[in-house]
Amino acid sequence: MDYDVLDLQKKLSKIMSAKRLYHSLGVQGMSLALAIRYGYDMDKANLAGLLHDCAKDLEDEELIKECNTYNLPVSPVETRNGFLLHGKLGAYYAQHKYGVDDSEIISSIYWHTTGRPDMTLLEKIVFVADYIEPNRSVKRIPELNTIRAIAFADLDKAVTEILKNTLLYLEKQGQEIDNLTVVAYDYYRNR
Ligand SMILES: [Fe+2]
Ligand SMILES: [Fe+2]
Repeated sequence: MDYDVLDLQKKLSKIMSAKRLYHSLGVQGMSLALAIRYGYDMDKANLAGLLHDCAKDLEDEELIKECNTYNLPVSPVETRNGFLLHGKLGAYYAQHKYGVDDSEIISSIYWHTTGRPDMTLLEKIVFVADYIEPNRSVKRIPELNTIRAIAFADLDKAVTEILKNTLLYLEKQGQEIDNLTVVAYDYYRNR
């Protein structure tokens, strides 16, 4: 694994809003911290955190168009909620635009939006880091500091809490829920 992280940061700064870049750097740092805590490869966590939202600065229609271009399957729920595709497309970009050839990094980007049952350690690290990174606001997520503490004590429990919160939030917003998130929550709740 030999990646020029500074070069990747520079590339992302050209395609991302300032806010998204700040978030990405936050997820990068938090993924690194969780990797240290749980004994995972630090370089891989660093890179996965940095790149996880590399396809998020696209409009819903653009996401769908790009997925069609690269023959990435688009489900009906993804057609109605294009932003759900930024994990899938981001994984493709990581591989083909940013030269990542590590399958664990690629799958952690792929699954970070919905989660899934029985996630790998890196998938859990990025999923949790995305939710608890320092720039996330307690004003928007009152349980945030509790979940931050849980993340460093019991990663699976943090995943469970985040899935639960996400489902409650989507329900409250009247937003459509990807069934994968429901299935993931059931898995972690009963683990
Ligand atoms: Fe994302
Ligand atoms: Fe994110």
